[in-house]
Amino acid sequence: MSKRIDSWTSAKLRGEKRVLVTAYDYPFARLAEEAGIDGVLVGDSLGMVVQGHRDTLQVTLEQMAYHTEMVARACSHTLVFADLPLGSYEESPAQCWRSASTLLRAGAEVIKWEGGLEFREHLEFCAARGLNVCVHLGLTPQRLRQWGGFQRQGTTPEAADRLAKEALTLAQSGARFLLLEAVPADLAAQISAESPIPVIGIGAGPSTDAQVLVLHDVLGFGKAPPFARAFVDGADLLRRGLADYAQAVREQHFPTATRKR
Ligand code: KIV
Repeated sequence: MSKRIDSWTSAKLRGEKRVLVTAYDYPFARLAEEAGIDGVLVGDSLGMVVQGHRDTLQVTLEQMAYHTEMVARACSHTLVFADLPLGSYEESPAQCWRSASTLLRAGAEVIKWEGGLEFREHLEFCAARGLNVCVHLGLTPQRLRQWGGFQRQGTTPEAADRLAKEALTLAQSGARFLLLEAVPADLAAQISAESPIPVIGIGAGPSTDAQVLVLHDVLGFGKAPPFARAFVDGADLLRRGLADYAQAVREQHFPTATRKR
């Protein structure tokens, strides 16, 4: 058992919030660590925010491993989570274990996949071999095309009840973390209160044990979903830096003959 992961469970018991952000490369993972972020998630959201696709379905296991290596190199004490992409785990517990091993070798400490009880066997198989699993429930972007778009989950009493029971069963089946995306705040609060393991929320209200956001949403790049918040206008800041550089070259202020430092 990892002491670092146990510390997240102790933080939950003390009511201390933990903070995660996604990261896809070395410089931003290093900034996250320097900023005191507790965990970074190498999310398959990289398909959208880094590769420019309209969803996460194009991302491959090899790409996830490549990005996880870069992120892990930057993190000395920040917990590194990595996503199993579509098609890399669903077939069987053995396939799931093999793909998870690829991401562990790349430097991840916690492996996340989308889906609950349909992968219970996978969870038990991997947990019995010591894998730290984070189960992603609620809105699972890899299944968006089946659902016909981004839709909040657990919104009827029956669906909420099903999700709450599923979360508890998964926690009892060896998961180390639950991640709830786009579920009602009161349902997320109930699941967090009942769960023995830390619950990470995104678009799930303020009561989960931890929060995660996509890096590009926090930093103000592009259009963020309504539940996110940009804490800086990063796009404007960087655009201005690039425009200043272009202007300095065109007006021959840069480079200077003697380098000033
Ligand atoms: O891929 C991702 O970044 C995620 C988060 C949105 C939770 O799964």
